[in-house]
Amino acid sequence: MRAIRRSRYGGPETLEVVDVDPEPLEPGRVRLRVTAASLNPFEWHHMRGLPWLMRPTSGWRSPRNPGLGVDVAGVVTEVGGEVVDLTVGDAVFGVARNSLAESATARAEYLVPIPEDVEPAHAAAVPLAGLTALQALRDRGRMAAGSRVLILGAAGGVGHYAVQIARALGAGRVVASCSGRNASWVADLGADRILDYTRGEVEDLDERFDVIVDIAGGTRIGYLRSLLASGGSLVLVGGPGEGRLLGPATRIFGGLIASRFRRERVVGVNATWSGADLALLASMLGNGSVRSVIHREVGLADAPAAIAELEDGHVPGKLIVRM
Ligand SMILES: NC(=O)c1ccc[n+]([C@@H]2O[C@H](COP(=O)([O-])OP(=O)(O)OC[C@H]3O[C@@H](n4cnc5c(N)ncnc54)[C@H](OP(=O)(O)O)[C@@H]3O)[C@@H](O)[C@H]2O)c1
Repeated sequence: MRAIRRSRYGGPETLEVVDVDPEPLEPGRVRLRVTAASLNPFEWHHMRGLPWLMRPTSGWRSPRNPGLGVDVAGVVTEVGGEVVDLTVGDAVFGVARNSLAESATARAEYLVPIPEDVEPAHAAAVPLAGLTALQALRDRGRMAAGSRVLILGAAGGVGHYAVQIARALGAGRVVASCSGRNASWVADLGADRILDYTRGEVEDLDERFDVIVDIAGGTRIGYLRSLLASGGSLVLVGGPGEGRLLGPATRIFGGLIASRFRRERVVGVNATWSGADLALLASMLGNGSVRSVIHREVGLADAPAAIAELEDGHVPGKLIVRM
């Protein structure tokens, strides 16, 4: 089967499409014929081995794992021992090991059925970005029905799900930041008010919020704290990959430390794989309360260039690799 492989850290030139043998199937896992995989900043961080913070697990001098890719949609072709809920032929989506390949294996507990009438590519787009958005709002942000929510970075992978999930969870008001060229489709996803960050509209706010989800990381944390209503939460998700040592974590750790002795609640999020949350996201996809906005689909050979495009930080919605 064809798969993306690399033996060193670096730019997209380090990624090659090669023929490899499928990995052995471990108990608790299934093998998938991959239909579509989606790209996240996760892939370019792993491609570059940056920030250095990740090297203890990813490999110090070169990548421990030669493959790439987590988000997947596919069809089950083989079922490992101890798997009871999936059978050959099931169309599923979720989290896999090295999904940028024609075939990949995944833990059965992190796969859920693709809802009827949902395109595999639209399901493949969801896992990492959708889990991050859901867990940021519901768990870390303690969002409740009626909450006033501000989402900074609403046109990206995480942000466009966050706008819709906030609506689906019953937000009273959703305000979203993006650049003007993305304003109309982000408003269509359910934002009540759009702030064009390129025109300084985030820095001039006259509203208070119960939950702020900061995905873009372009605004001072002290100012964002001042926008919180009493009892509100600021959730720090990501930001520009500046700083080779800590990357976006520089700002997040700094913000958490500076906020320790203040009244406002400031928290980070670290998305975790969850079958229950994937099932919830699947039900939202199925009932139409959440949809994936696909910027472009590319073939496996063009995945390295697509990862480089994502690294530039201005892809609207999701990039999909279709096998
Ligand atoms: N903590 C976690 O568990 C976790 C999980 C997933 C992702 N993340 C992090 O979250 C961040 C976003 O991930 P993603 O998948 O959404 O990335 P993405 O899809 O690459 O985000 C790109 C989007 O960000 C927008 N953007 C860039 N600068 C902005 C700004 N200053 N204000 C508002 N929007 C801005 C761009 O819109 P324009 O073109 O309009 O500028 C573009 O649409 C990354 O830093 C990622 O590493 C963290």
